[in-house]
Amino acid sequence: MRFTVAIDGPAAAGKGTISRAVAARFGFAHLDTGALYRAVGVKGGDPVAAARGLTAGDLARDDLRTLEAGQAASRIAVIPEVRQALLDFQRAFARREGGAVLDGRDIGTVICPGAEVKLFVTASPEVRAHRRWLEVGGDEARVLAEVKERDARDMNRADAPLKPAADAMVLDTSEMSIDEAVAAAIAHIEALRG
Ligand code: CDP
Ligand code: CDP
Repeated sequence: MRFTVAIDGPAAAGKGTISRAVAARFGFAHLDTGALYRAVGVKGGDPVAAARGLTAGDLARDDLRTLEAGQAASRIAVIPEVRQALLDFQRAFARREGGAVLDGRDIGTVICPGAEVKLFVTASPEVRAHRRWLEVGGDEARVLAEVKERDARDMNRADAPLKPAADAMVLDTSEMSIDEAVAAAIAHIEALRG
């Protein structure tokens, strides 16, 4: 059985939380594609070489979830050769036997345009920044500024910009708890899965 769930959206919208819950509920494998870009961003050196030579160790670093890693990821994510180097791995993962859920920015638009389910998870910048601030601490105004800066860079790049696929269901979680957002995603997948 091959079944792909594509979950896209801006920073700290709840993509990862929803993806993990969907993977657990349906027994699908989960790939956090943002981790690939974060690992390339923090590795330093030539980003195209880093993307081509990404190792399990690069993906296991404990500094991938910092604000700095997010910024570094979005800077190297504008480079078409970097995106190209990560493409085959993501596509193969998506079509693995047993089903897969991938979360990122371009899963429904570029990586898996034929995905059986596409969700675009979003929330207001203020709500998303508050959620991220609860995770990383520091100055909340700075977290909001960084979230907005990263979103703008992701939406305005020429290659694979962040936007909902034409056939994606948009889920605005601004006023939803985690449990409500997960329930809405699972209900949508169950309806499409038949
Ligand atoms: O993967 P993404 O950056 O889109 O977001 P996430 O890591 O799943 O969620 C960011 C933070 O927001 C986590 O701490 C979640 O627990 C929290 N969250 C929330 O409070 N309410 C939601 N409806 C979704 C996520
Ligand atoms: O968890 P959060 O939403 O904050 O970020 P992430 O999903 O880990 O992605 C980090 C950065 O990687 C994004 O801001 C994008 O610039 C880039 N990215 C991308 O270009 N395409 C993807 N499929 C996933 C991430």
